[in-house]
Amino acid sequence: MSAMEDKITSLLAEGKVFQPPEEGSAQAWVKSMEEYKQAYAHSMEDPEGFWAKRAEELVTWDKKWDKVLEYDLSIPEVKWFVGGKLNLSVNCLDRHLTDGRRNKAAIIWQGEPEEDVRVYTYQMLHDEVCRFANVLKKKGVKKGDRVAIYLPMVPELAISLLACARLGAVHSVVFGGFSAVALQSRIEDCHAKVLITADAVLRGGKAIPLKPNADEALETCPSVETCIVVRRAGNEIEMKEGRDCWWHREIHAKDISSYCEPESMDAEDMLFILYTSGSTGKPKGVVHTTGGYLTYAMHTAQWVFDLKDNDVYWCTADLGWITGHSYILYGPLGLGATALMFEGVPNYPGPDRFWRIVEKFKVNIFYTAPTAIRALMREGVEPTQRWDLSSLRILGSVGEPINPEAWMWYFINIGKEKLPIVDTWWQTETGGIMISALPYVTPLKPGSATLPLPGIDAAIYNEEGKEASPNEGGHLVIRKPWPGMLRGVFGNPERYKKAYFNRYPDTYDPEDGARRDEDGYFWIMGRLDDVINVSGHRLGTAEIESALVAHEAVAEAAAVGMPHPVKGQAIFAYVTLMSWAEESEELRNELRQHVRKEIGPIATPDVIQWAPGLPKTRSGKIMRRILRKIAANDFADFGDTSTLADPTVVEQLVDTKKQMG
Ligand code: WT7
Repeated sequence: MSAMEDKITSLLAEGKVFQPPEEGSAQAWVKSMEEYKQAYAHSMEDPEGFWAKRAEELVTWDKKWDKVLEYDLSIPEVKWFVGGKLNLSVNCLDRHLTDGRRNKAAIIWQGEPEEDVRVYTYQMLHDEVCRFANVLKKKGVKKGDRVAIYLPMVPELAISLLACARLGAVHSVVFGGFSAVALQSRIEDCHAKVLITADAVLRGGKAIPLKPNADEALETCPSVETCIVVRRAGNEIEMKEGRDCWWHREIHAKDISSYCEPESMDAEDMLFILYTSGSTGKPKGVVHTTGGYLTYAMHTAQWVFDLKDNDVYWCTADLGWITGHSYILYGPLGLGATALMFEGVPNYPGPDRFWRIVEKFKVNIFYTAPTAIRALMREGVEPTQRWDLSSLRILGSVGEPINPEAWMWYFINIGKEKLPIVDTWWQTETGGIMISALPYVTPLKPGSATLPLPGIDAAIYNEEGKEASPNEGGHLVIRKPWPGMLRGVFGNPERYKKAYFNRYPDTYDPEDGARRDEDGYFWIMGRLDDVINVSGHRLGTAEIESALVAHEAVAEAAAVGMPHPVKGQAIFAYVTLMSWAEESEELRNELRQHVRKEIGPIATPDVIQWAPGLPKTRSGKIMRRILRKIAANDFADFGDTSTLADPTVVEQLVDTKKQMG
């Protein structure tokens, strides 16, 4: 055991609660546990009063709302700030031109090459966003139209989102790591009119072509009239006459002005769609609206990250995920903060890249994912010591439960045993952080997301729908609406109700297992549905299975998660072949490549085990519980197997797994 592992083990063994350092709390937005408790109590007694005050303090409205909240979770239908009018790009840009922040950096962009840095002041960003909004307008984009965005982490990505918001067009960002097939299905689902993409993505010093994926997707996307291409790497690409155009040409055209009149939007007008995995094959288009979402993103960014005007704030997520939407863009820019945007990865050109950037820009607030911390942990402590991290004030974590060892490593080596870590639990659907410590205020327990934020009525229910007793595991639920909650699944109201409001009446069901300890702290255990969390990204087992079954050699497949030291969970797939197909290493690789092509690299199965049969109940349901145990080499107790149609299938699978190791 290394000295660091020793230290972590002994600190953890103490079962220690980390009290917040005294200094720091006095200037925090929420200053003490007393204040937190008061705010929480107030928000539960008078939710409308609580949220109206926040919406008024944080957001600039063209017209004030008539009614704070109207809802009926049994339908479900939720409306916040009914009758209110606003524009998000005005809130994120225009108002900062007159509040003293005009020349302040809004976005500091660090490209993958170290020397590639661009800084946008609020004025510059405003002008770029207006120009691009005018380009979109020229291409026929109107309020309510959908715009698909498939870009690497370049400034044009942020500009695209804000330009859509300016026109009232609905953005649908598709993560640049997804495949052509995944892009195609997302464009098709929302009938996007325009696609914004780039020639390539820079990754690990290489240019990986992106435009060919867009071309492939667009072959079967008749709704897309225009494809706007950002030049990033300068690689050779094909431009389709009449459909494709270059960003840099369009934005600098003579008739494109640097001002664009913003569209005054209804608080409940759709702002964006973001696809996420669920229990069934097809990803869900999670819908967020305007007024409530902005209020919530700003409110949580302010209280959880304690954003102040002089801070440099860095969230390492990609804008292709909700974390980027809420905590690179809308929350921080709404507050007039300085947000850092990074194009690269944590370990290129070396494992000290993050820390080098922290020193370079004197980052104050740093928000990342457990999978990144675990990957960097493997590289040892030395890379963290090469750079001066003393500017840091707050550390954050998101995406999956952070294991206590990774928490301690982060705390000791990055936080130098002084900085608070805010472990933030939330989802694409919640729009913003729901359960989290408040920095310099909440006593911390490594591995616990601690307490619900004011306004969030979180609880643990058991199967009967009663509140679980302390430390009894159950379903995490949210009992009251909050402004950032999703308003629907695009084009699919039944799925909205079924996926989120079916388990308990009038209650939001995030499908996470959790327990609450004797101090009321929440410990999130992970997904209860058929979703695998790989490096903080949700992948539906059904999506992976249908990709596998689409291959001609596959008769049947079952995918489960298995524990993985860096990714949290890895994908383990059981595959039954067609009788004519032969088991071979080549076929195994071919299947992995096939899934990669269908969904994207993150969905590539780590292990494929050949399965002559799958364990099924007599009614034909696959018993995943057993498959999960076999994948984890846990053969001791499979629980009740009496409903299995053919118990010998399990023995066969266990034998094969034991041989595989
Ligand atoms: C799922 C949501 C929210 C932005 C990133 C992921 C898991 C997320 C935590 C945390 C334990 C967490 C949950 C959740 N999760 N944060 N701090 N502790 N689990 O968004 O892709 O919508 O995934 O990620 O299982 O349901 P997402």
